[in-house]
Amino acid sequence: QTGFTTLDNGFVNTSTARSKITYIDGDQGILRYRGYPIEQIAENSTYLETAWLLIYGELPTADELAGFDARIRRHTLLHEDLRRFFDALPHSAHPMSVLSSAVGALGTFYEGSMSTSDPEQVELQTIRLLAKLPVIAAYAHKKSLGQAFLYPDNSLSFVDNFLKLNFGTMAEPYEVNPVLSKALERLLILHEDHEQNASTSTVRLVGSTQANMFSSISAGISALYGPLHGGANEAVLSMLADIKNSGQGVERFVERVKNKEEGVKLMGFGHRVYKNYDPRAKLVKESANEVLSALGVKDDLLDIAMELEGIALADDYFAERKLYPNVDFYTGVIYKAMGFPPRMFTVLFAIGRLPGWIAHWREMNADATTKIGRPQQLYLGSTQRDWPQR
Ligand code: SDX
Repeated sequence: QTGFTTLDNGFVNTSTARSKITYIDGDQGILRYRGYPIEQIAENSTYLETAWLLIYGELPTADELAGFDARIRRHTLLHEDLRRFFDALPHSAHPMSVLSSAVGALGTFYEGSMSTSDPEQVELQTIRLLAKLPVIAAYAHKKSLGQAFLYPDNSLSFVDNFLKLNFGTMAEPYEVNPVLSKALERLLILHEDHEQNASTSTVRLVGSTQANMFSSISAGISALYGPLHGGANEAVLSMLADIKNSGQGVERFVERVKNKEEGVKLMGFGHRVYKNYDPRAKLVKESANEVLSALGVKDDLLDIAMELEGIALADDYFAERKLYPNVDFYTGVIYKAMGFPPRMFTVLFAIGRLPGWIAHWREMNADATTKIGRPQQLYLGSTQRDWPQR
């Protein structure tokens, strides 16, 4: 400890915000959006209704929700120059890189209406992001497939339009599967907010400099990309596939994790806040079998995941460290059954999390006490020295 500052590595013991949006009790495994338990929201709400709740603080009336939905539908088209933005990228580009770059680029089309304080312009940025992020995400997916981009279909709901943009083609009509639509809506809701996680804290930190919403959210997408955060859902699937292909069995993998072999982690396990079962993981696990059988998909990776969970939860190593499945542990198997490639899994997380990012950015911006985020450091470098005479 030097002077008057103490290093708090990873902000384990530091609050960086006052917020009324989401409440988590990590020991009890409680998650509430604006006071409503996640279990009840997942059961009763829609992605846009929950987005409204997170952003404006109360549930919308039927008219408010209808107006919100209609405004969003009217903003789904991308500027044609932005559609061409994707041509500059390689087919091999990871959709998360595409997403963060395209959202940053999206802002360049609205330079005149990017105020951080004008309520109408903040509202317009909110609607534009909610409307266009799914379209950009679907274009990143189509780009990786080398397939033509479709135009949004504003006669469809938010989720159904997204599904059609991903899985429809120019060659034939696309019928949305209601099982797929309902399952994806529920998964998006489960991801909509999670208080001060790394990507939301990033959005708040960037926004604290009065950077516009698009730039702040683009930074949040980049933070989410990392395998320790949102990128874990993609990493879980490769972990499960490696266990299956190695033929070494789950127990051997668990031993490698416990021996900390070359940093092998049990991806989809552990959480900074939850020292109990992540309530979202419980809801995802409950629906996994139901969704896969409704989609007529059998995937032994789900069996491997369940076996892995069983072994880990019975092992002191994980119990001592309070390591339980988190939201990313089971989602990938469901996304795969839906037809999404693993590199799109974190993009789905980003679409889910967008309302939370927007809600926190607006809350931070509206808080007159917000100061620019500028932490201190413990300096361990060289003391003063003179430039060499050469
Ligand atoms: C998300 O913050 C959020 O709310 C995030 C999120 C959201 O909705 O926004 O919930 C979404 O990001 C979920 C987490 C997804 N990430 C993963 O599944 C990656 C695997 N998990 C770990 O990397 C880790 O658990 C974190 C990053 C999630 C949390 O890290 P912490 O809180 O900094 O914990 P830590 O790394 O200090 O670990 C404490 C101990 C260590 O053991 P020791 O050094 O004391 O012996 O637990 C061990 C770690 O080695 N440990 C793990 C482990 N996670 C922690 N060991 C094996 N496998 C793991 N997954």
